[in-house]
Amino acid sequence: MQNNHKPAPAIIIIFGGSGDLTKRKLIPAFYNLFLDKHMPDQFAVIGLGRTAYADDEFRALLREGIDSFSRRGKAQDEEWQQFAPTLSYLQSDINDEKSYKALTARIHALEKNWEQKPNLIFYLAIAPELVEPVATHLGNAGICKNIDRSRLVVEKPFGRDLETARKLNGVLTGIFDESQIYRIDHYLGKEAVQNMLVFRFANVLFEPIWNRKYIEHVQITASETVGVEDRGGYFDGAGTLRDMIQNHVLQLLCFVAMEPPNAFTSEDIRNRKVDVLRAIRRFEGKEIFEKAARGQYGGGWMQGEKVQGYREEPKVAKNSATDTFAALKFYIDNWRWQGVPFYVRSGKRMTEKMTVITVQFREVPHQVFPSSVAENIRPNRIIISITPDTGIRLRFQAKQVGLSMRLAPADLIFNYSQTYEAQPPEAYETLLHDVMSGDATLFMRSDEVEAAWSVVKPVMDLWEENPPTDFPNYQSGSWGPEAAERLIAADGYHWVMMPV
Ligand code: BG6
Repeated sequence: MQNNHKPAPAIIIIFGGSGDLTKRKLIPAFYNLFLDKHMPDQFAVIGLGRTAYADDEFRALLREGIDSFSRRGKAQDEEWQQFAPTLSYLQSDINDEKSYKALTARIHALEKNWEQKPNLIFYLAIAPELVEPVATHLGNAGICKNIDRSRLVVEKPFGRDLETARKLNGVLTGIFDESQIYRIDHYLGKEAVQNMLVFRFANVLFEPIWNRKYIEHVQITASETVGVEDRGGYFDGAGTLRDMIQNHVLQLLCFVAMEPPNAFTSEDIRNRKVDVLRAIRRFEGKEIFEKAARGQYGGGWMQGEKVQGYREEPKVAKNSATDTFAALKFYIDNWRWQGVPFYVRSGKRMTEKMTVITVQFREVPHQVFPSSVAENIRPNRIIISITPDTGIRLRFQAKQVGLSMRLAPADLIFNYSQTYEAQPPEAYETLLHDVMSGDATLFMRSDEVEAAWSVVKPVMDLWEENPPTDFPNYQSGSWGPEAAERLIAADGYHWVMMPV
């Protein structure tokens, strides 16, 4: 995120090369970086997978992925012909040492003819249980010994709870230096998320009021319209608390709540985020039931189509207790935020897809205008919208046009797509460019991941000990269970639903 320069030559090795993530996200991202001239002057991508593919078959598969999923649409022949030769495939068994020997030989054969020794980027686009064995094999093979030139990229989920995350961190940091490990949270690659740092720390306007004195509460909504689709096998053992709140939502919260970093460096920024995670109050025992609401979608109607409930989805247990919705209330115990509630919620099969942060300010300390002209007055509010539209909306009071004095709320709107002509890069483009450039700012450090798990742990534990009795408790196409409304209404507020 810091530079616009071309990264040094790199060989990118993708474990899970024939999988969905590679096809939908990684290769389209590399291709767009290539078209925008952000790839290194020399690079190669090696896909590893169990299935046998000739290089040409592999390339054809990846081109289909670009055609279907790239933000630019279909690949053009001429450009594709330049890109395709950089891709190759190696059939492999990731549990077999021989595959790592073959990989090492392939890397050596490639780099032999390169002027500059390339960086090696090992991307683990594989099931979580395979991360440890692959990392161990890579360690044994000795191809990632050079700390400055080799990097490991790990996809989420990073562990399934605090203990497993700690164990995995232990294994990985036993093989790699922490600076070599890039733990991906794709939300951090989103333009609007990065813009929050600029909005807060490159303007003099907001920081002085960004605290408990002026802010009444904060809300974060990350709602989706999709159900679990074909990911039941993974999701049914996870749930929304693990899948969305522990990572994406807490990361957004960190950006809202963090103290200004001393400098724009990965360590400073991540230190400040860890401070937030550590300061989040851990609720205990039954109190958690008042601070957290869970839900699971039943059948319903989505855009005129009848859809089935979560328990009817493929690879989901018929009596599943997995949460497809979670809402929580947090407090951050520090000087800036003492007493300010942060409400967060995320769910599948909800009315709309949106990721929105609402910062609700307090009322003016003294009302100058008589209530007869100020009956519509509303406290200030800043809405930061990440999806569907990317932008910021600031609500303030204005005088309505006319001879008499009447007040009404008005909005100042900054909308990315209207302000900038350029199409924003996909999150994966930003993140992959950062990995190639060696910039870890937008990746989670081991202590950050563990701190995030420790925030959700008490809730996870209590929910597991007390299985829900009312699932499914919200209809597909709704805004989630009633318990989530009660959670925020108990404090006299309601969830804000206003995209930019
Ligand atoms: C992923 C989750 O990390 O994020 C998915 O595993 C979820 O369950 C997805 O659908 C949402 O991402 P986005 O970018 O579409 O909001």
